[in-house]
Amino acid sequence: MKSIICVLVLIIVAVSLNAEGGNKLWLRYKSTEIVNVVCDKNSPALAIAREELKEGWKGKSGATIVLTLTKDKAIKGDGFRLSANGIQANTESGILYGVYELLRRQQTGEAIEEEISNPSFEIRILNHWDNPDGSVERGYAGNSIFWRDGENALGVTENDTALWEEYARANASIGINGTVLNNVNASPLMLTKKYLERVKAIAEVLRPYGIKAYLSVKFSSPSLIGGLKTSDPLDTEVITWWKNKVNEIYTLIPDFGGFLVKANSEGQPGPQDFGRTHADGANMLADALKPYGGIVMWRAFVYSASDEDRAKQAYSEFLPLDGQFRVNVIIQVKNGPVDFQPREPFSPLFGAMKKTSVMPELQITQEYLGQSVHLVFLATMWEEFLKTNTYQEGAGSMVARCTDGSIYPQDHTAIAGVANVGLDANWCGHHFAQANWYAFGRLAWNDQLTSEKIADEWIKLTFHEAPSGIPVSAAVFSNDWTEHFLIPVKQMMLDSREAAVNYMMPLGLHHIFSANEHYGPGPWWAPKGVRKDWTPPYYHQADIGGIGFDRTQNGSNAVSQYHQPLCSQFNDVKTCPEVYLLWFHHLPWDYKMQSGHTLWDELCRHYDTGLQQVRGFQKIWDTVQPYIDQERYVEVKSKLGNQCSNAQVWKDACLLYFQQFSKKPIPDDIERPVNDLDDLIRNDMKRF
Ligand code: GCU
Repeated sequence: MKSIICVLVLIIVAVSLNAEGGNKLWLRYKSTEIVNVVCDKNSPALAIAREELKEGWKGKSGATIVLTLTKDKAIKGDGFRLSANGIQANTESGILYGVYELLRRQQTGEAIEEEISNPSFEIRILNHWDNPDGSVERGYAGNSIFWRDGENALGVTENDTALWEEYARANASIGINGTVLNNVNASPLMLTKKYLERVKAIAEVLRPYGIKAYLSVKFSSPSLIGGLKTSDPLDTEVITWWKNKVNEIYTLIPDFGGFLVKANSEGQPGPQDFGRTHADGANMLADALKPYGGIVMWRAFVYSASDEDRAKQAYSEFLPLDGQFRVNVIIQVKNGPVDFQPREPFSPLFGAMKKTSVMPELQITQEYLGQSVHLVFLATMWEEFLKTNTYQEGAGSMVARCTDGSIYPQDHTAIAGVANVGLDANWCGHHFAQANWYAFGRLAWNDQLTSEKIADEWIKLTFHEAPSGIPVSAAVFSNDWTEHFLIPVKQMMLDSREAAVNYMMPLGLHHIFSANEHYGPGPWWAPKGVRKDWTPPYYHQADIGGIGFDRTQNGSNAVSQYHQPLCSQFNDVKTCPEVYLLWFHHLPWDYKMQSGHTLWDELCRHYDTGLQQVRGFQKIWDTVQPYIDQERYVEVKSKLGNQCSNAQVWKDACLLYFQQFSKKPIPDDIERPVNDLDDLIRNDMKRF
């Protein structure tokens, strides 16, 4: 009996030792070697830098690393100079980033040569869409790590601070230096004293990691919580209210970052409610923040139910205001003109606003890309976006260069990512969704990185362990591991976004989701009373004559918002890139594609290809089982199975629905749908 118990205990211990919930993210190092760290200053940030080196050192045992705070003009912002013997930086954060870079290189086997690394963007910030009750808008990884409902909602526990610290460390390790703690659909509660106390507590944990706290604010706060009769930005009482509020915040949090504002958008209040402009509203807040060095990130995500093409509205509203914003205002623009779709052309505001700071907003949480079920690596999408030429200042005017200060002398440069972080054990809901958090930070630091390099790093940092969970010796990547794990998994990641585009919305289709969940297909979805621009038929315009949104000069003329030669290129069906074809053109079903197929046949092939790609991912994943712990293997396998059934539903739903208009057969060599359209319409696809 005794020995049975002993064996059972041993099994339980072994299992729990190997338990792999994914909570360690890409930070799995454990040093086996000794390092001497020399630094003649001390501070909380430098103490972290030391500690990380000691914990993660994989270099020569007994080596000495010198951390030096310096004043070097070649080093910009919180950049650093890296060498095999030490790190120099102008700021403590710079030292910390240098340490993480050194450790990352040791882990991934990248050479450590003398070089300077400067960040592309000054502010690299996450936007949490977290509500005071702990729910997360478009969050698929559990509740908020910052807010909760119920008893002791605002008390700060040891668990809270431990979690915030892990979060801060993960962010610092990839260069993120700011975080907006609450939803852009902001509750005015956030600006009340008791909530600000909690913001202070969070900010204190984030500070040593070089991360500033920011808040989303509701524009009508002066009337909602201040008891004023108006929130008119030009009203002197309103101006004073905000000044006092800002003063209260900075008294609690001296390094507070500033405000993020969603105004006059999707029902949120804003300056237009008082006959004022976005510039009036943003500047009033900017003036209040200016004395403390705070900034305003003012969102350009605006559209109304007017007849104007939704894709045109942000540009129409904001371009005339160019040059009217204070220097501490940054206009935050989503990557595409509509809303984080699987593929959109870039928003024409990039590069067009030449006298105003503009920052890209990317969505890390996969609202429109399969949420926490689908494996979709977003770096390829972001790379495509950042490297697209806007032509606003001739060749070389890539979106990245139009926003990172290379082309326009912006007072501030920034990039935001809508976070995918929650209380789930693995932080992001899907093990591979962690790669998107990682990729955002890496691209914010260096907007020229390739998605291939980012995937390579992330896989090495996240999975290079023996199946027992014990890290194998650093930077020794056997041929076997490289060939059978790294290469196939990386390829799967790099193909995954195009696969999602194929099985969801190929050839420029967009926003054809059902209902408000933005998960399953719903090209038919148009309930009575719902605004037209919230329904898929508005976007796909399918009829007997063809499919696609005519945004050419003969249609909505959205093409005119793009600089030449793009305007002509998009306008002409012969030169419009096929990936954007149905974004800009309404075309007959038998339109001849470059491949020689008709548009209908090509659409069928894309949907089928997407499904086949996911089946391919399943096969790849099965082959990597010997190289990965059981927990993550099983969880990802199960999600891939669900993604595959979803892809089948997407294909069947879209093809069967559009076939009602095309009246054409599915090509002979394409697998037939397995679902019934009426069933699909009756039962919206649910998230697993
Ligand atoms: C999308 C999303 C909303 C969000 C909005 C925004 O429309 O579905 O939940 O509030 O974007 O970015 O403001």
